[in-house]
Amino acid sequence: MKRKVGILISGRGSNMAALIAAARNPDYPAEIACVLSNRPAAPGLSLADKAGIATIGLDHNDHASRESFDEAMNAALIASGVDLVACAGFMRLMSDAFVNAWAGRMINIHPSILPLFKGVDTHDRALEAGMRVHGCSVHFTTPELDAGPIIAQAVVPVLPGDDAKTLAARVLTAEHRLYPAALGLVASDKAVLAGNRVRLEASIDEAQRLWSPDLE
Ligand code: GRF
Repeated sequence: MKRKVGILISGRGSNMAALIAAARNPDYPAEIACVLSNRPAAPGLSLADKAGIATIGLDHNDHASRESFDEAMNAALIASGVDLVACAGFMRLMSDAFVNAWAGRMINIHPSILPLFKGVDTHDRALEAGMRVHGCSVHFTTPELDAGPIIAQAVVPVLPGDDAKTLAARVLTAEHRLYPAALGLVASDKAVLAGNRVRLEASIDEAQRLWSPDLE
């Protein structure tokens, strides 16, 4: 039985598109049940619609409080039969009650090697810090922003002459590979929340280790 995933977005939805593409593989352990956006005009929502996925536009401005919006979001996800939630550029803080209701069943992608550079402007901050490598992380969500247990990470080099735009593009390419892989691990119970860590049952291919600069 495939796990049913609800994807939460706010914008262009390129990670969402990567998850939808991965889920087209008959061997993938999850199917995308719906895509929900707090911005009904989000370009990602029309992308999902064109891909034949059920879409839900739920404007947070129509709700008097965060809690009331989150309750509506929760009801919509449950009505769609969702049992896993994947946040993909969902630019909205979520209430503790919502996050706790989905504990161990909701994941997020963040454009940095966590726990470095939580929050926004991660690429500028990585450059400012003189990082040689940068990357992205997929983690279980917890009430504290970008602080949940890490499922998987990908690393890219920071190259001479990079600016935030070129670096963001390199990280995004890694995101599009990492997120489907990480969701696949969770959907097949190969990555399981165990306290404040993630127990990983998948074997790690040593050839996939990344070094930058490559000195070998
Ligand atoms: C990505 O960089 C993701 O890591 C961050 O927001 C961005 C969303 O981009 N959380 P997209 O909408 O998936 O293209």
